[in-house]
Amino acid sequence: MNAIRFEFPQVAKCALMSNPEEPVAAQFGGCRFTARIAIPDYPGQVAAHYREMIRGSVEEFSKSLHVPLGFKHFGLVCSFATPTQLDLYQGDVLCDALKELVRCFGPVFLENVVLPKHQRDDGHRGRFQDLNFHIDRSARQHTQYSLYSRNPDDPEQREPRTASTLFIPNLVAHLQDCRERSVPVTPCEELPNNHTLFKDEDLSDLIGKIIFEQAWAAPAGTGEIGVQFNPQIRHASWYRGRTIKGWPIAVRFLR
Ligand SMILES: [Fe+2]
Repeated sequence: MNAIRFEFPQVAKCALMSNPEEPVAAQFGGCRFTARIAIPDYPGQVAAHYREMIRGSVEEFSKSLHVPLGFKHFGLVCSFATPTQLDLYQGDVLCDALKELVRCFGPVFLENVVLPKHQRDDGHRGRFQDLNFHIDRSARQHTQYSLYSRNPDDPEQREPRTASTLFIPNLVAHLQDCRERSVPVTPCEELPNNHTLFKDEDLSDLIGKIIFEQAWAAPAGTGEIGVQFNPQIRHASWYRGRTIKGWPIAVRFLR
């Protein structure tokens, strides 16, 4: 199996933007996949969930807080029809096609995908505290993208994971933090690097509305890869109400 350079046809992106509820079938270089948006009309979901806190449109309000939202739809999942080996980065540089998708949709996940063999053990493996929303990179570091992977050949990672990874934009982290501390929403120049959120909430009500969940739950032996851009997003492990952390996810930092 040779690695194929990842591409995302512009026509598929346009179809998702104009009809975000509908998955799109697409292909490049003979690789067939289906792409779907995880949470369509994200500003609408935020406006509904935090309605007592938001004045005016979500976009304008987020700018006034200095925490711009930047997503019309949140989270993209591309499921490949057959196991596919993809070329996603060279050295520490992420490919342009993924950068563009991540800037547009936030977290992007590829199911049934593996990296080329020589890259499968790159980076390090980590796992974090339950519901501790954090960034992987400080603003001073030059590699701001995180690429996470589940290697289907790895004895641990070949099995589905017991813990999920959750993603929220900075704006939701700020609003939720203010709500939980019962303080007024005020402009915020710099969010904390990490904080625990949603501890007392029923997350099943929030996933698919304001939280994007990557469950790492594809069947045994399936490769899964995800990318996010740290300046825009907070992410956390979620043990799904259990005490088991799940296997450590491999992560590389890219620019
Ligand atoms: Fe992390």
